[in-house]
Amino acid sequence: MRRDMLFAGLAGVMVLGTLALPPALAQNAPGPAETALTSQQDSTLARRLLMHSIGANNDIVHDILDGTLPMDDLELRGRLQSIGAALYAMPSLYRAEANPYSEEAEKADALHVSLANAKVWEDFTTFRDLSYAAFFKAQEAADATPDQMLARVEELEVMCDSCHETYRTPFEYFDFDRIEDFLKE
Ligand code: HEC
Repeated sequence: MRRDMLFAGLAGVMVLGTLALPPALAQNAPGPAETALTSQQDSTLARRLLMHSIGANNDIVHDILDGTLPMDDLELRGRLQSIGAALYAMPSLYRAEANPYSEEAEKADALHVSLANAKVWEDFTTFRDLSYAAFFKAQEAADATPDQMLARVEELEVMCDSCHETYRTPFEYFDFDRIEDFLKE
């Protein structure tokens, strides 16, 4: 909200400058308090690690709730809290200069790109709000009664998938449930 008001104010002062910028950059121009002490590479690697860990935690949560792994209430709640914290931190790991995935960019410097696509920078506010909404859902799951937990986790997974559909470059998962298909290929 504060950021939107700031952009509205800046737009008046910087009309000429803003017109000269491509739309994605104009929207993401950092405000005076939005500076970073880490580089684009540092933050890109950090968010790749973070998302990977969200995925690994979520797989374990689901396996516990499915009965594939032994039930452990404390572990479930701890992992859901970690997922929530990571979802809250994730949008802070984007720099104003866009570095969406492309095959060429990955070949040039694999650490400089991630699976985030150009839409993240085109509509960053929506992206950030989706991540915060998923954070609240993960908290809700962590605080749920045992009989409600699976339902909350499934709602969270719908949020994971719908964000990925819009903002993540599709890629071939190594799905351990399909390991035989991979070995045959
Ligand atoms: C608000 C959007 C959003 C939400 C919500 C979200 N993700 Fe992601 N996810 C992304 C983006 C963008 C990437 C690529 C990010 C990057 O590495 O820069 C990604 C990457 C991933 C990856 C691949 C990591 C890698 O590069 O190896 C996994 C696994 C993943 N997400 C799992 C999840 C799970 C599980 C949830 C829900 C609990 C979730 N994500 C919620 C946007 C989201």
